[in-house]
Amino acid sequence: MQDSPEIAVLRLGHRPGRDERMTTHVGLTARALGADRVLLAQGAADRRTTIENVTDGFGGPFEVETTDEPNRVLCEWQARIVHLTMYGLPVQEVETEIRSQFEDGMDLLVVVGAEKVQWDVYEAADWNVAVTNQPHSEVASLAVFLDRLFEGDELDREWEDADRVVVPQAEGKRIEEQ
Ligand SMILES: C[S@@+](CC[C@H](N)C(=O)[O-])C[C@H]1O[C@@H](n2cnc3c(N)ncnc32)[C@H](O)[C@@H]1O
Repeated sequence: MQDSPEIAVLRLGHRPGRDERMTTHVGLTARALGADRVLLAQGAADRRTTIENVTDGFGGPFEVETTDEPNRVLCEWQARIVHLTMYGLPVQEVETEIRSQFEDGMDLLVVVGAEKVQWDVYEAADWNVAVTNQPHSEVASLAVFLDRLFEGDELDREWEDADRVVVPQAEGKRIEEQ
């Protein structure tokens, strides 16, 4: 374990054509809401550039990787695994336990699916976590989970090496080039 634990997001499955935007949005949501890196299935390799371009423009740190062997990532992950699934335990019942281990320095791998997720993922997970037991989306469940984990602190994150900064406005849009 390390002092500053890592959060990686593993996006399982990617149906070329159908999942392009969702896979991109998983990466952008992971970045915006406090994860350190996202691992994409190899079929999603071209999504990598889109996410990296956002990081180059709006800051980091945030890493994007691709993997041919997501099952191997799961098997070799040294710390805790959170699988987000509508079939899991309610996030409000397990978030304290997960946060406690994270704050003690335990890295987390947060796994989200695209289509049907294989049973061995449920078995590999330390926690199968539901954001409601209703079907919705990997982007929504990832956002709610990260916000619960960080208790909202991720909203005040400082970004490094940004080329552009959005200046909040009650109306209109303002971006400052750095
Ligand atoms: C379109 S859903 C696929 C649902 C599919 N029936 C399954 O076997 O999981 C894609 C992903 O969204 C996430 N997801 C959907 N609903 C969720 C919920 N209520 N709680 C947590 N994650 C959810 C899961 O990660 C899921 O793999």
